[in-house]
Amino acid sequence: MKIAFVGKGGSGKTTLSSLFIRHLAAEQVPVIAVDADINQHLGAALGLDEAESAALPAMGARLPLIKDYLRGSNPRITSAETMIKTTPPGEGSRLLRVREDNPVFDACARTVRLDDEAAVQLMVTGPFNDSDLGVACYHSKVGAVELCLNHLVDGPGEYVVVDMTAGSDSFASGMFTRFDMTYLIAEPTRKGVSVYRQYKEYARDFGVGLKVVGNKVQGPDDLDFLRAEVGDDLLTVFGHSDWVRAMEKGRPPRFELLEEANRQALETLRATADRSYERRDWQRYTRQMVHFHLKNAERWGNAKTGADLAAQVDPAFVLDERLLAAPQPA
Ligand SMILES: Nc1ncnc2c1ncn2[C@@H]1O[C@H](COP(=O)(O)OP(=O)(O)O)[C@@H](O)[C@H]1O
Ligand SMILES: [Mg+2]
Repeated sequence: MKIAFVGKGGSGKTTLSSLFIRHLAAEQVPVIAVDADINQHLGAALGLDEAESAALPAMGARLPLIKDYLRGSNPRITSAETMIKTTPPGEGSRLLRVREDNPVFDACARTVRLDDEAAVQLMVTGPFNDSDLGVACYHSKVGAVELCLNHLVDGPGEYVVVDMTAGSDSFASGMFTRFDMTYLIAEPTRKGVSVYRQYKEYARDFGVGLKVVGNKVQGPDDLDFLRAEVGDDLLTVFGHSDWVRAMEKGRPPRFELLEEANRQALETLRATADRSYERRDWQRYTRQMVHFHLKNAERWGNAKTGADLAAQVDPAFVLDERLLAAPQPA
C-alpha cells in the first residue's frame, strides 16, 4: 500500500507520517519510509540523531544506479541517460518489491530501529538547497521516488509511506497519482484548508484517494471549522501531543505511551489505507503513468535527451502485483 502525507509546510506532515510509520512498525508489518519533503526531517522524527541523518544515502545522488537497475533489459529504454523520472516500466524492466533485497534498496535504504523489535527501512531524496528549488535538480531528486513508485509492485499488508511536499512540483509530474491513499494534513486555519482545495482540484480528475487529517486540533471550534471547510473529506484529527513534544526534546518516550486519542487516529489512518485496496486499479495506475510520461516527454524530456521518449512506452505492459511472483529479468 502506497500512502502519501502532504500539506502545507509546518502542518505536521513529518510528525504524523513518522507516527503512522511507528504505528505500522509496532505491528511488525513491513514498512518502507520515504522522505521526499523539501525539509528532510523524517529521519529525525524516527529518532535518528544529526550524524545518523546526515549519513543517510541520498536517492537523488544515486539516480544513475536506480535507472540502470530498473531499466534492466527493456529494449525500449536504450540508456540510463534517456530514462526520465516518468519513464514507465515495460517488458524487460526490473520491478521493486517491498520485501526483497535489491541493488536500489542496498544503495538507498537504511534500517532504522524503533522500540523493541520494530524497525523500518528509510529512504531519503537528500537535502534540497536553494538552487534545487523550481529547477530540474529538485525534480530529479523527487523524480527518484517517482521512478521507484512506478516500478513498485506492492500488495496488501506491506506499506510504503512517503512524507511529501504539496507543492506544484508533485502536480507537474504524476507523483500525486501514485498512492492508494493521500492524507492531506491541515491545521484548522484558512491557509491549511487552502492547500486542500488546490490538491482536491488536481486530484479529482485522476481518481486520487484523498482524505484530510486535521492536526493540532484543540477543541470543538477547531473541529467545527474543519468540518465546515472540508465536509466529508475530513477523516480524523490529531490533537496536540505531549509525546511528540518530548520526542522533539530528544527524550522519546516508548511509543506505547502515545496519547490514546492520537493512537485511535493512527488506527483510522491504517484502516482507511487498508480499505483503499479495494479501489486499486493497476490498469488505471499504468495508464496514468503513461499519461504523465507523454506529457513530460513533450514538455521537456524529448528536448533534454534528444530522443523520442514516447517510444519508451510499452503498449502491452500493465504493472500488476501478480508480477510479485514472477522472476526478475536478468
Ligand atoms: N500533533 C502535534 N503535537 C505536538 N507538536 C506537533 C504536532 N504536530 C506537529 N507538531 C510540531 O509542529 C512542528 C511542525 O511539524 P512538522 O511535522 O515538522 O511539519 P511539516 O513536516 O508539515 O513541515 C514540529 O515542531 C512538530 O513537532
Ligand atoms: Mg516536514
